[in-house]
Amino acid sequence: MAAADFPSRFSVLAFVFTFALLSGFSLASDPFVSYVFKVSYVTASPLGVPQQVIAVNGNFPGPLINATTNYNVKVNVFNHLDEPLLLTWPGVEMRRNSWQDGVLGTNCPIPPRWNFTYNFQLKDQIGSFYYFPSLNFQRASGGFGPFIVNNRELIPIPFPKPDGEISFMIGDWYTQNHTALRSILDSGKELGMPDGVLINGKGPYKYNSSVPDGIEYETVNVEPGKTYRIRVHNVGISTSLNFRIQNHKLLLVETEGRYTSQTNFTDFDIHVGQSYSFLVTMDQNASSDYYIVASARFVNETVWQRVTGVGILHYSNSKGRASGPLPVPSTDVSHPWSVMNQQRAIKQNTSASGARPNPQGSYHYGQINITKTYIFRSMPPTKINGSLRATLNGISFLNPSTPIRLADNYEVKGAYKLDFPDRPHDNRPPRLDRSIINATYKDFIQVIFQNNDTKVHSFHIDGYSFYVVAMDFGNWTEDRKGSYNNWDAISRSTIEVYPGAWTAVLMSLDNVGVWNIRVENLDRWYLGQETYMRIVNPEENGKTEMDKPKNALYCGALQGLQIAQHHSSASKILNGQLDLIFSLMMVLLAIVSAFC
Ligand SMILES: *[C@@H]1O[C@H](CO)[C@@H](O)[C@H](O)[C@H]1NC(C)=O
Ligand SMILES: *[C@@H]1O[C@H](CO)[C@@H](O)[C@H](O)[C@H]1NC(C)=O
Ligand SMILES: *[C@@H]1O[C@H](CO)[C@@H](O)[C@H](O)[C@H]1NC(C)=O
Ligand SMILES: *[C@@H]1O[C@H](CO)[C@@H](O)[C@H](O)[C@H]1NC(C)=O
Ligand SMILES: *[C@@H]1O[C@H](CO)[C@@H](O)[C@H](O)[C@H]1NC(C)=O
Ligand SMILES: *[C@@H]1O[C@H](CO)[C@@H](O)[C@H](O)[C@H]1NC(C)=O
Ligand SMILES: *[C@@H]1O[C@H](CO)[C@@H](O)[C@H](O)[C@H]1NC(C)=O
Ligand SMILES: *[C@@H]1O[C@H](CO)[C@@H](O)[C@H](O)[C@H]1NC(C)=O
Ligand SMILES: *[C@@H]1O[C@H](CO)[C@@H](O)[C@H](O)[C@H]1NC(C)=O
Ligand SMILES: *[C@@H]1O[C@H](CO)[C@@H](O)[C@H](O)[C@H]1NC(C)=O
Ligand SMILES: *[C@@H]1O[C@H](CO)[C@@H](O)[C@H](O)[C@H]1NC(C)=O
Ligand SMILES: *[C@@H]1O[C@H](CO)[C@@H](O)[C@H](O)[C@H]1NC(C)=O
Repeated sequence: MAAADFPSRFSVLAFVFTFALLSGFSLASDPFVSYVFKVSYVTASPLGVPQQVIAVNGNFPGPLINATTNYNVKVNVFNHLDEPLLLTWPGVEMRRNSWQDGVLGTNCPIPPRWNFTYNFQLKDQIGSFYYFPSLNFQRASGGFGPFIVNNRELIPIPFPKPDGEISFMIGDWYTQNHTALRSILDSGKELGMPDGVLINGKGPYKYNSSVPDGIEYETVNVEPGKTYRIRVHNVGISTSLNFRIQNHKLLLVETEGRYTSQTNFTDFDIHVGQSYSFLVTMDQNASSDYYIVASARFVNETVWQRVTGVGILHYSNSKGRASGPLPVPSTDVSHPWSVMNQQRAIKQNTSASGARPNPQGSYHYGQINITKTYIFRSMPPTKINGSLRATLNGISFLNPSTPIRLADNYEVKGAYKLDFPDRPHDNRPPRLDRSIINATYKDFIQVIFQNNDTKVHSFHIDGYSFYVVAMDFGNWTEDRKGSYNNWDAISRSTIEVYPGAWTAVLMSLDNVGVWNIRVENLDRWYLGQETYMRIVNPEENGKTEMDKPKNALYCGALQGLQIAQHHSSASKILNGQLDLIFSLMMVLLAIVSAFC
């Protein structure tokens, strides 16, 4: 197969030159990483019941995307599902390039049997992220995997280099697949209690007789005395999880791209869509294996007892199996204040370098004047025109059939409305609409997420990270600004908002594009709890936003522009040859220009 490999490797090389020549955004010196993702169903029985799960290249969870600040990332996604597909990468900022964000507001879905290549550069970022399929509730069946952005060699990380790295994808799980779950919501019902919690796609270790026999569980092999960087992502549907490793401390070091002030925890609440890195030292005597636990939080724990994820931490010198009761979380959710205090304890390390050599704290967000305030209030699901829907500021979002960014590019009129309200209006009945936010480039905004639902919500904004300056119970009021953390608040992209509470974040609107604001809880998102923020530079000159990619797919009003994809082997060979010819041309061009 070496000969067949040749053209594709060659075109990767050529692409580096192409970037250098054709775009002002990237340099040939920034390396490329290239992935081919085949997304398909495979059969798995994580909770002992066989079901179709979504795998990437046959793996569930999918493979790691491992890159470094400033790398160019190319992911060619082949859709072998029977439904449209898009992959999205929350927290990866896609600077000036919402074209690659992989949500319906910016991308047409990849039809079944088609492929689409995502191409983006990781500007000015480090940290722990993940990817997942953004359409049709597919995340409930899998398709997710870790995405790491390492520091460049020359930038020191604020802790000794760990002896190893381990990623955990944790999440609640149903034995029904995403299409079955979708029909439940479509029929106007809520999903009810999940069937379990998975750790890296596997069910619980048989820690007691409540766990059925024959379930495959996750085992992590470690060496005594060594320190590992453990990255944990909650990729589940709607359940907040408490993560802990029996007898071991979790030293929090990073969250969603920011190094934190290092703090030890015995257990940590990870809400849907959130990512954390901990350093864990294998400092125990290995008298037995240790439990790794991810258990449901903020639910009736009497009823939810069976919904627990349990894996095994196995020292190479372990003297026996783990046994006995699971360790319990250190805080009790019946005391919400103590729970909120854990989130409040997450601070950025202002003297650590992030993606750049200058310290993270050198951006003095607390001294910038706020130019605009948005209040987004989520409400419990309600019936609108007879269907169960969830709202943000009274609007349950309808995705335009032509993606917003594409509609702008081709001046398609009426695809969406720029009238999303800045704050909730109590006197208007909830409605379905294509309303998005007309945000102003370079504004420095304050966003208050106000949760009037009965569940914990995780709010996420694509393309940005924001400073989490305060959270509290009750209703936010203007005078709360006085209590903001204006010094070392953490900057991240997914934040929990407790029921009956609010969270305030500050952000600078410096990333041009169309960016999704959503609740990460999959059921609420599916029911319409999202919108977009459209940010245009009035002086756009081709420098603040990247051009529409050449391979963009078309749909909706622009369907007519789409050239059908052919998948016969003959066209593949032809494509390969064209690729090779193109690559040769680009290399020649690059060589010529290098000598001129
Ligand atoms: C999902 O589950 C439904 C109902 O059990 C079934 O009809 C359907 O074939 C399943 N889909 C896949 C992709 O397995
Ligand atoms: C990521 O790739 C780098 C080399 O570029 C390697 O040193 C590192 O171990 C990889 N990380 C993981 C988690 O595989
Ligand atoms: C589909 O994959 C081929 C390589 O097999 C690639 O040349 C082509 O650009 C991809 N299509 C899109 C729309 O990205
Ligand atoms: C199994 O463990 C759970 C959690 O530790 C406990 O609540 C439950 O009572 C146990 N069940 C049995 C049958 O021992
Ligand atoms: C965290 O806990 C470990 C193990 O108990 C200890 O060695 C370390 O000093 C602690 N670090 C901090 C920052 O508290
Ligand atoms: C190992 O540690 C456990 C818990 O800290 C302790 O109960 C036990 O006695 C220790 N065993 C040995 C052999 O030191
Ligand atoms: C939890 O559920 C049990 C069983 O339905 C019920 O008895 C108990 O009151 C519930 N607890 C809370 C705090 O709602
Ligand atoms: C903050 O980062 C510096 C590196 O600049 C590191 O030496 C220090 O230990 C970190 N402090 C905390 C509390 O994490
Ligand atoms: C912020 O606002 C204050 C009062 O309106 C004004 O005096 C100050 O100059 C502003 N600061 C900046 C950096 O614009
Ligand atoms: C959107 O905001 C800009 C100012 O940033 C304004 O000029 C424009 O009229 C607004 N458009 C609509 C439809 O409100
Ligand atoms: C909070 O705001 C809601 C909606 O405006 C209102 O109904 C409620 O009474 C307020 N709660 C408090 C404690 O003021
Ligand atoms: C939601 O708002 C209603 C009134 O609009 C209020 O009565 C209720 O307490 C609020 N619930 C939460 C969880 O905030």
